[in-house]
Amino acid sequence: MDIASSPAEPEENTQVADAAPPPHAPQVIHREDYLAPAWLVPEIALSFRLGVEETHVCSKLTVTRNPDGNGSDVLRLNGDQISPLVVKVDGRAARDWRMDGPDLLLELDGERHAIEIETLVQPVTNTQLMGLYASNGMLCTQCEAEGFRRITFFPDRPDVLSTYSVRMEGNKARFPILLSNGNCTARGEGAEGRHWAHWHDPWPKPSYLFALVAGNLVANTARFTTMSGRQVECNVWVRPGDENRTQHALDSLIAAMKWDEEAFGREYDLDLFNIVAVSDFNMGAMENKGLNIFNTRYVLAEPDTATDADYDAIESVVGHEYFHNWSGNRVTCRDWFQLSLKEGFTVLRDQLFSADMGSEAVKRIEDVRILRGGQFPEDSGPLAHPIRPDSYQEISNFYTSTVYNKGAEVIRMMRTMAGEERFRKGTDLYFERHDGEAATCEDFVRAIEDGTGLDLGRFRLWYSQAGTPRVAIAMRHEGDTAILTADQAVPATPGQAIKQPMPIPLRVALFDRETASHSGERLIVLDKASDTFRFEGCPRPPVLSVNRGFSAPVALEVERPDADLVFLAAHDDDPFARYEAMQSLIVRHLIRAVSAGLDETGLDKTGREAGRDAVRQACEAVLADEALEDLIRGELLILPTVAYLSEQLLVADPGALHQAREALKAWLGAELLDSFRALHDRASAVPFGRDAAARGARKCKAQSLVYIAAGDPAEGARRAFAQYRAADNMSDRQSALTVLCGLDVPEREEALADFHKRHEGNALVIDKWFSLQAGSFHPRVLDHIRTLAQHGDFTLSNPNRARALYMSAALNPKAFHDASGEGYAMIGEIVRRLDPINPQTAARFVPALGRWRRIEPDRARLMRAELEEIAALPTLSRDVREQVTKSLG
Ligand code: ARG
Ligand code: ZN
Repeated sequence: MDIASSPAEPEENTQVADAAPPPHAPQVIHREDYLAPAWLVPEIALSFRLGVEETHVCSKLTVTRNPDGNGSDVLRLNGDQISPLVVKVDGRAARDWRMDGPDLLLELDGERHAIEIETLVQPVTNTQLMGLYASNGMLCTQCEAEGFRRITFFPDRPDVLSTYSVRMEGNKARFPILLSNGNCTARGEGAEGRHWAHWHDPWPKPSYLFALVAGNLVANTARFTTMSGRQVECNVWVRPGDENRTQHALDSLIAAMKWDEEAFGREYDLDLFNIVAVSDFNMGAMENKGLNIFNTRYVLAEPDTATDADYDAIESVVGHEYFHNWSGNRVTCRDWFQLSLKEGFTVLRDQLFSADMGSEAVKRIEDVRILRGGQFPEDSGPLAHPIRPDSYQEISNFYTSTVYNKGAEVIRMMRTMAGEERFRKGTDLYFERHDGEAATCEDFVRAIEDGTGLDLGRFRLWYSQAGTPRVAIAMRHEGDTAILTADQAVPATPGQAIKQPMPIPLRVALFDRETASHSGERLIVLDKASDTFRFEGCPRPPVLSVNRGFSAPVALEVERPDADLVFLAAHDDDPFARYEAMQSLIVRHLIRAVSAGLDETGLDKTGREAGRDAVRQACEAVLADEALEDLIRGELLILPTVAYLSEQLLVADPGALHQAREALKAWLGAELLDSFRALHDRASAVPFGRDAAARGARKCKAQSLVYIAAGDPAEGARRAFAQYRAADNMSDRQSALTVLCGLDVPEREEALADFHKRHEGNALVIDKWFSLQAGSFHPRVLDHIRTLAQHGDFTLSNPNRARALYMSAALNPKAFHDASGEGYAMIGEIVRRLDPINPQTAARFVPALGRWRRIEPDRARLMRAELEEIAALPTLSRDVREQVTKSLG
C-alpha cells in the first residue's frame, strides 16, 4: 500500500495522496480510513515453475465488482519488488494498466473479468524472508502480513477472500515434496526429471494465508478422528535426519485438535493438516490454511537437545497455530488494525490449552512474567499503542506483545467477568455469526456481549486506550467490615494525553490472620476513577489478597505491610497470588535499596533494613513448604528482571538495579545456603522423566544452583560443573552451563568447549551456545559477545542465530546497559547492518534503545545517540524508520 492512483479516486483502504509526498515522508495508514475493496477475487489459480534461483509465477484471477464497494473501475493489485511480465484481461494482452509505485492498476468496465499476470521472483536472494524464499535449498513462503505481493500482483488485504488452486512444477530430485494449502488433487511426472502437483483449498481465504513448500522433506504422520468421525492425516515435515525430533510437535498437534473440540467446540475442516519446519524464519510460526510453517525451534525436540521450556514452547506454538484455523482462518480480520482479533484471542486459547495440558498456576505465572517483562515496558514507552492500533506505517511493527499478550488479557477479563460457561456461549455466537467473514474487534465484542449478556460498553475502552492502568488500593477495618478503596489512572501515551477510567475486574480474598483462610473469593469491578467496596464478616483486620490470578493487566499499588506479604507468600491458596506476594516483597526491597542505597550490612542510610529480611523469610517458607509442588517452588524463587524493576521507577538506573538484584541474590544464597544445597541435592536425585515431578525437580535444581553460585561461587562452580557432566538431558545441561557462563572460572571454558563439540551441526543447540554466553552476567560479557560475532558459526542472515547473540545481549542488563555505552553501540550497529538484509528482524532491536527516556541521563544520552545514528542513514527500511522515528519523537 503506497501512493494511490489519482486524487480524484479514493482507492480501497490506501492513503489518498493529494500531492506527491516529500522523499522520506512516511505514509501513515489510518484505521478510520478503511474502505471496502472495489473489486473482489472469488477465485485464483496459481501456477509455479519452481527454481531456487528463479521461480516463474502465473496467476489467473477472477475478479468481480464488489456490490459493497465504492464502484471504482480501478482494480488495485499490490506488488512489492516485482514487475509484470504479462498482463492479460479476459484473455487479451491488456493495454490500460499502469504502475502506481509498487502497485499495478487496471481499469475495468464490466462486472466480472479474468485477469492473468506473470511474474518472476528470485527466492535465493530474498533475505527478508517475506514472500517466496529459499532456506537450505528448500522453497517456502511467508505471506502474513504483506508478503503475497512479493510473489504476484494481488489485492493483498485480508478482506479479499478467494478460493485457491495451485499448480507447482519443478525438478523432482531437488523438490521431491510439493505442498500447498488444502488437499492434493493430482500429481504427475514431467519430462527431464520434473514433476508436478495440483493443490486445491476449498475454504476461501485471504492472501496472507497462502503457502507453498517445495523441497526434500520427510514426515512424521499420525491420524486424528474428529468429533464428527472424519479422518485427518497429520504430518510434521522436516529435513531428513530430523524426523526423530518431531514426536512432541506431532503429539501436541493431536492434543490441540482434541482440546479445541472440547473447550471451544471447534472441529478441523480438511482431510489433511501439514506442519513444515524451516530454519530461516522471521517469527515463531505461521497458520497458513492446512499448511502451517514453523520456525524449527518450535518443532524439533528430544530430551538431549531441548529443555523443558523448549518442550512447553513447542506445545504452545503448535496449539496457537492450530487454533488459528478457527480464530484467524475461518473468521479472519477485516484489516490489519484488527490483528488482535485473531492474535489476542488465539493467544488466550493457547494459554488455556497449555494450562490444561500442564499446571494452570505455573502457566499463569509464566504468562504474567512475559506480559510484565515485555508488554508493560512497551506500554510505557514511545511505541505504546492500543491493542487495536489507530495507525501504522509498517504493519510488521505491530506484531507486538501488546497486540498478542495484552490482547489475550483483555479477552481473558471478559471471560473472568462472564464465567467460563457464559463466555463459551459468546465465542460460539462469534464463530457462528462470522464464519467465512473478515471481522473486526467490534464484531467480537458484540458477539461476546450478546452471547454472555454482559454490558461491555465501557469495556471497549480496553481496545482503544494504550497504557497500563495503575490501580492504588487501600483497606481499612471498621467493626466487622473491611472497606477497600480503589483508584485507577491510565497514564498518558503517545497521541493519547487524556484517558477514561476502564472497567477493571479484580478477584479479591480477605484472609483471617489466625486461621490463614478466607471465606470465599469475590470479583469486584472497578469501573470508575475511584470506588469503595465493603466486605462484611471480618471480625479482625484481614490480610488483603487482590488481583488474584492476575485478573486484570494492571500495575497495582497496595498499601500493605511487609508482614502481610510474607503471610500471603506462605499461605495464599491462589498460587499466583503467592508468587505475586513474593514478587512484591522483592520489588519493594530492591526499589528501596536503589533509592536509598544500602551499605554492606544491608542497611539503608536511615538505618532501615529495607525489607530484605522479609524476602528471606518468604524464601525460607517456600523452601520449607513440603506441600508445594516443585514446579511452583521453582517459579516462586525467580527474581524479577531488571526490565520489570525499571518499570517501577519513572527514571531508572539499570546499573544500580542490576547490582542491587545481584546483591540480593548473593545475600539470599549465602543466608539460605544450606537449604539451597539440600534442595539441589534432593532435586539431583530425581531421575529424568517428562512428568511434572521430574520437571519440577529440574526447575528447582536450576534455581538452587543460581543461588548457590551467587552465595558461594566456588561451590557453585563445583556443583554446576558436576551437574553439567552428569546431565542426561538438555534442561540440566543448560542450567549448569548458564551458571558456569556467569562465573570467571576455568570450568566455564571447558564446559563451553564441550557443549559446542557435542552439539556441533545442531543449529538450535548452537543458538543456545551463543545465547547463554551473550545473556550471562560474566564481568567480561561484552568481550565475549564481540568474540562470538567473529565465530565461524555466526551469521546475521539467519534470524535465529542473529537473535541468539544480539537479542540475548539487548535483553541482558549487564551487557546492554554497560555504563560505557558499548552495549548500546553494539545494538545500534546491528540495526544498521541487519536492516538491508532483513528489515523486519532489524526493527525488533530498536525498542531496546527506544527506552532512553526512562533511563538515567548519562545512559539516556548514549542510547539516543545510537538512535540518531540509525536515523541519519540515507536509506532505511520502512520498518526501522518507523520504530526509530517514534523512539526519538
Ligand atoms: N500469524 C503468525 C502468528 O501465529 C505470525 C506471523 C507474523 N509474521 C510476520 N512476518 N509479521 O502469530
Ligand atoms: Zn498467531
